[in-house]
Amino acid sequence: MSFKIVDQATPRLNRSELAVPGSRPELFEKAAKSSADIVFLDLEDAVAPDDKPQARKNIIQALNEVQWGGKTVSVRINGLDTHYMYRDVVDILEQAVNRVDLIMIPKVGTASDVYAVDMLVTQIEDAMGSGKRIGFELLIETALGMMNVDEIAAASPRNESLHFGVADYAASTKARTTNIGGANPDYVVLTDPDEAGERAVHWGDMWHYATARMVVAARANGLRPVDGPFGDFSDADGYKAQAKRAAVLGCAGKWAIHPAQIAPANEVFSPSEAEVTKANRILQAMEQAKKEGKGAAALDGRLIDIASIKQAENLVKTAEQIQAQATT
Ligand code: COA
Ligand code: MG
Repeated sequence: MSFKIVDQATPRLNRSELAVPGSRPELFEKAAKSSADIVFLDLEDAVAPDDKPQARKNIIQALNEVQWGGKTVSVRINGLDTHYMYRDVVDILEQAVNRVDLIMIPKVGTASDVYAVDMLVTQIEDAMGSGKRIGFELLIETALGMMNVDEIAAASPRNESLHFGVADYAASTKARTTNIGGANPDYVVLTDPDEAGERAVHWGDMWHYATARMVVAARANGLRPVDGPFGDFSDADGYKAQAKRAAVLGCAGKWAIHPAQIAPANEVFSPSEAEVTKANRILQAMEQAKKEGKGAAALDGRLIDIASIKQAENLVKTAEQIQAQATT
């Protein structure tokens, strides 16, 4: 292990994160009653410019009046390049500082963007005598943000998670996309011809690099990497396949832009019973090996070592959080 100890962000379930436009208050109660781990109330791109002031008021009222239960609630503020942003932070925090858990910052480009919001949030928290520290969710959705993702991830102790915002990222990098977060039939590998002259087409994942890049920056800084939206909410199989790819690469969860996407996200990002059982067996086997003075052990004919313990511990911890959430 490195001598550098990485602090881990506040542990929270983040399997599903439901997007709710601040301009649609009729959705707030439904979001609170949903099984999404996190709800983010949006002031940014799901809200038209003329509706921003009213959306702010709606969100403040909802933060104070809706029964959110044990749910984590986030507010996506407007970008730092707009004049909406300062009032988003000031109004929301002055009027609901103890009700909001996280602030989502869109289109983060540099570490200084995070620093600026941190300064503002810190002043308001102090002025309000708030005892709790609001966390940050950072949207990586521009070429600049991806280039600076390491510094961004390390920019504030408030940072909890990095989110891959695929639609704006595609626009920023001028990537050719067909639908939000989906695959592109032009991103393929053609096999060499077989004996019959046939060539197979293998679809590739055009988001692989971006997702993996963000996962590394997040995990190296103790943050949760979260995959962003999948636009076609009537394509359940497509959503699940994308969620699985993100999970395989290390993401902790994925956005849901429609309630239909919550259950598949919770399912894909929850460890299965078999995985939890296996993890517990690994921990027991390593405990036994330790008693016998060994650093590695075998389980079912395979080597398990210190790295296996870490993975098993993470898995068991997530399973415990899911259990705890289910019983609240
Ligand atoms: N949160 C909570 N409930 C939601 C919801 C959401 N984001 N989206 C839809 N619902 C509710 C609807 O009110 C409806 O409830 P009902 O059965 O009581 O009538 C039910 O879920 C089914 O919704 P449906 O009619 O299929 O969708 P819609 O046409 O009302 O809305 C969208 C579709 C995409 C416009 C809507 O889901 C939405 O605004 N999603 C968020 C988009 C967003 O925030 N994007 C920015 C981030 S990329
Ligand atoms: Mg965006």
